[in-house]
Amino acid sequence: MNAQIARCVDIIQSEIADSSADIQAPKVAIILGSGLGPFADALETVAEISYSELPGFPEPGVGGHAGRLLLAKSVKGENMDGATFVVLQGRAHYYEKGEADVMAVPIHTLAAIGCETLVLTNAAGSLLTEAGPGAVMLITDHINMTGVSPLFGETGNQRFVNMGDAYEPFLNQQFLSIAEKQNIELHQGVYAWMSGPQFETNAEIRALRTLGSDAVGMSTVPEVILAKHQGMKVAALSIITNYAAGMSETPLSHEQTIDKAALATKSVKTLLTHFLKEYQA
Ligand code: HPA
Repeated sequence: MNAQIARCVDIIQSEIADSSADIQAPKVAIILGSGLGPFADALETVAEISYSELPGFPEPGVGGHAGRLLLAKSVKGENMDGATFVVLQGRAHYYEKGEADVMAVPIHTLAAIGCETLVLTNAAGSLLTEAGPGAVMLITDHINMTGVSPLFGETGNQRFVNMGDAYEPFLNQQFLSIAEKQNIELHQGVYAWMSGPQFETNAEIRALRTLGSDAVGMSTVPEVILAKHQGMKVAALSIITNYAAGMSETPLSHEQTIDKAALATKSVKTLLTHFLKEYQA
């Protein structure tokens, strides 16, 4: 473990030890994407640590991302006996500095404190006519369109990570059954990772459709690769904020991403809350 990660682990573990709450080591971590701040506000936290206090954690550079690690024991108003979990509010992206491993320290830290499952959320454009702004899509697989990997420079055989069934089928099943019970329409599909920060051209979207993509975005995939490299189980949800380029009259913008993400906050909050309540690894 490198020194930065060891220091981050120390800081988090001493927050757990200092908190008066009787909590266990967290097993689940959630990374919140654009527009999911309201979920963070609904948590009963036992500690909140700014990324600036955690060496190697990035300063998120995009509006809608706060940059805090939250240790939580419940969602307000819910009874979650003994479930401690970590929420990373805010991420950094490859397109900010051209570093695909910008989330390596946070993810290594989560694995080192004992998180065995990582649930990622993001905002994405939809290639599915049936999933418009405000829809939620369970990511069942991804296509890495960037040609880069957060594992560039790693050595040893562990770097040859098995990415078959990267999105854990039994966790997906759990989300689908929660969605059914809670009457939430949960789409499923393949997420294509584009580097950004520019949105796609219409031709790029046609190409992505031909390749088998159902949604497109600029995040998540490097974190999934890092988490799999650390032996974590992964699930991911996309909030659809727009139809992909060429599919609607509305020009794409980041403002639209932030605005439309709010349409799905309630469903995502319900999905995450029940997932945490029922979590069994
Ligand atoms: N493309 C890429 N990233 C996105 C989009 C999109 O259409 N919407 C939200 N994030």
